[in-house]
Amino acid sequence: MSKEKVIIFDTTLRDGEQAPGATMNIEEKLLIAKTLEKMGVDVIEAGFPAASNGDFEAVNRIAKTIKNSVICGLARAKKSDIERTAESVKPAAKPRIHTFLATSPIHMQYKLKMDKAQVLQAITESVSLARSFVPEVDWSPEDATRSKRDFLFRAIELAIKSGANTINIPDTVGYTTPEEYFDLISAIKNNVSNIDKAIISTHCHNDLGLAVANSLAAMRAGARQIECTINGIGERAGNAALEEIVMAIKTRSDFYGVETDIDSTMISRISKLVSSITGFHVQYNKAIVGANAFAHESGIHQDGILKNRETYEIMTPESVGLEKSSLVLGKLSGRAAFKDRLKEIGYELNEEMLSESFKKFKELADKKKEILDEDIVSLVDDSIVHQKSRYSLTSLEVSCGTNQEASANIKIKIDNDEAETSFLSKDGPVDAIFNAIKKIIPHNANLELYQVQAVTDGTDAQATVVVRLKQNNRIFSANGADTNVLAASAIAYINCLDKLQN
Ligand code: KIV
Ligand code: ZN
Repeated sequence: MSKEKVIIFDTTLRDGEQAPGATMNIEEKLLIAKTLEKMGVDVIEAGFPAASNGDFEAVNRIAKTIKNSVICGLARAKKSDIERTAESVKPAAKPRIHTFLATSPIHMQYKLKMDKAQVLQAITESVSLARSFVPEVDWSPEDATRSKRDFLFRAIELAIKSGANTINIPDTVGYTTPEEYFDLISAIKNNVSNIDKAIISTHCHNDLGLAVANSLAAMRAGARQIECTINGIGERAGNAALEEIVMAIKTRSDFYGVETDIDSTMISRISKLVSSITGFHVQYNKAIVGANAFAHESGIHQDGILKNRETYEIMTPESVGLEKSSLVLGKLSGRAAFKDRLKEIGYELNEEMLSESFKKFKELADKKKEILDEDIVSLVDDSIVHQKSRYSLTSLEVSCGTNQEASANIKIKIDNDEAETSFLSKDGPVDAIFNAIKKIIPHNANLELYQVQAVTDGTDAQATVVVRLKQNNRIFSANGADTNVLAASAIAYINCLDKLQN
């Protein structure tokens, strides 16, 4: 018998992007959206179109590109926001508007400065306006978990009457607990007279580390849409993590009795993509996608695993896309073999992108004997994301040692020109490189983070460097990959400046 479906609503590109430093450019958002679509996400919240022209543009491009997932834009309960959002999602095959208004006493009194009657009036107007543009309207009573229940029920009833077909119950400040949230969803089902005309949705923040547990509790009470993000990124402590929700539903289908349409074998890939684009590393012991999530260290565990994997393994690494990566290509592999491998990994590139990626592959194969899938994913994603970048590294020469100043000579391509300069530093090669870049691309941003990681094992592995810069209270992150860690550092810094200046 087929199980009831739970809708997976991903808000990595909206709530996820609200995390300080997680700002993404359009190409990055598009790549994430395409990967979310490929993995079977039902609804992609692509952004907040009224927030800026860049946000509008990103949602609009995603709406034009994605065909299978619903494309949703967030709007405040304002005419101008809703009209702008409607315009932005208009090209989507399946457009949706998500509009919200706070219903808790503290938000109404201090933030909105609106009384109950004004809030109810605004709900009627905003939801019916949204519904006049699109067939799917998601409505959220912001800070629902700290709202007075009677007023919350009235507000929900009115939103449904005005045309909302999904009612999302946000735990905006991550305050609720599984038992309380279960009880709230049950009370909504029992007290809102027209609730059968809408799908109940969850949106949980992780301030108390309960976002996933709360979402699952609400699902047990009857919620059939879960809002979540890849790697759990989002405001403050983040949102419920998509990968944890999906794998809990799949692994414990005996208990939950529901299913999702997500292809869980894409989890590892999208987790790495989001981590590399945002520069937010995933903690080693993070459930499902942490580097240690499937590592068995103790002798007793290893012995058990060798005898029968199920002794200590409740899900397989393969089920989240962690197949042992095989040696795939090398220096002598041709364009056809490269293209074939790309197809197997799941990429379909146009001729221009294929040529660009193949060129990078050949350069990498000259430096690294064995090219693994992880290397290919890293270089192709990098080509896709940076295809419109103004700056790129042409060459870098560095000299340094224990008893000498470090010197860096760098050439950078800027649009169709090239600039070259040098810098001497007492503080080491990275300082010399970053200062040389600053001479060519002047800026007043501060370096907030510099982090190095290896893409694969081995001393010839590519390094990925994450650079985070802060300028005028806005934080941007970017990465760079190369087998030479100093070149990777220069690329990451240049990429971050490119993001910051666009
Ligand atoms: O956390 C929250 O309340 C939100 C709403 C806009 C749904 O993100
Ligand atoms: Zn939120």
